[in-house]
Amino acid sequence: MSLIDAPLLSALRGERPETTPIWFMRQAGRSLPEYRELRVGTEMLDACLTPDMAAEITLQPVRRHGVDAAIFFSDIVVPLKMIGIDVEIVPGRGPVFADPVRTAADVDRITSIPAEEVVAAADPIREAVRITTDELHPQGVPLIGFAGAPFTLAAYLIEGGPSKDHLRARAMMHADPQSWDRLAGWLSDVAAAFLSVQVEAGASAVQLFDSWAGSLSPADYRRFIAPHSARALDEITQVPRIHFGVGTGPILADMTLDGSVDAVGVDWRLGLDEAARIVGQDITLQGNIDPALLQAPWPVLEEHVREVVAAGRAARGHIVNLGHGVPPETDPTVLTRIVELVHAL
Ligand code: CP3
Repeated sequence: MSLIDAPLLSALRGERPETTPIWFMRQAGRSLPEYRELRVGTEMLDACLTPDMAAEITLQPVRRHGVDAAIFFSDIVVPLKMIGIDVEIVPGRGPVFADPVRTAADVDRITSIPAEEVVAAADPIREAVRITTDELHPQGVPLIGFAGAPFTLAAYLIEGGPSKDHLRARAMMHADPQSWDRLAGWLSDVAAAFLSVQVEAGASAVQLFDSWAGSLSPADYRRFIAPHSARALDEITQVPRIHFGVGTGPILADMTLDGSVDAVGVDWRLGLDEAARIVGQDITLQGNIDPALLQAPWPVLEEHVREVVAAGRAARGHIVNLGHGVPPETDPTVLTRIVELVHAL
């Protein structure tokens, strides 16, 4: 099959391909024994910047599950690491920054690094994308590139690590809106640069992860976030754009960014029929299998997957996915079974 006819790209154009496309956020990672084996002795961010390894990990779930897309194996903090920011990913915890960005002076310091340095430092990314697409494209399988959205990246940078309600980041918006806009504007340039590198090297679609956007009020989302995320995505004109966050029911209409996105991801809290009413018929939906049900007996999970596919018919196009990432303890044979079911429906 040629790439242009790939079900994922067709659904992103708003069509209804013969088989409904499916892939899983965090499909490349700890649920796979072949991933755990390959990663022994290599730190997460080193793995991301080793082209052979990043390409191999990206390809593993496509070979195993027969999903309709690969998602590039990397992390939202990789572009920051590439330009010299001291960050590591602590297993079981997440990204941790040595120097949190909390004051106007901290914002000056970090934003003085030109975002174009991401492009200059991106050879390992280009190489990994090239190796990956050399294997995927003859099979007609697209690669999805991604970046972290300004708010989700800022939530880690300002806190210095993972946090529950991203209080410091939300506080900066109101306490020092100028510093906030400078930081978020810079992060939008970083995200745009990271996405462009992946697209120019061969990615056929992109996803902007604003995982923690659901912690914002609609008013704050519109004022402090939407313009920055839209600017990052407006740089990407060659390929379709997916925008994702968790718990985004109240801001879902705003997350369509007035035409800057082709699809929005929805988590399990909101039915896809309701989501389709909110976003209308110009946007494709992606989602929204509840990751908790991956632990349920197969008949229960099967019923849930059938309901998700049925509710997705209300949208102009539908890509099946989880409502958030694959939990590490997931039995990978369950994921393969879901792919077979969705393709058969
Ligand atoms: O398979 C894929 O989806 C592609 C690869 C991918 C990773 N991270 C690999 C990874 C993607 C798309 C991401 C994005 C990412 N990273 C997000 C947005 C998506 C989301 O889940 O909301 C966020 C918030 C991060 C930051 C991050 N990186 C966290 C919170 C963690 C988990 C820490 C832990 O150990 O529980 C990471 C680490 C990470 N990123 C792993 C993987 C495979 C696990 C690292 C390991 O295997 O040791």
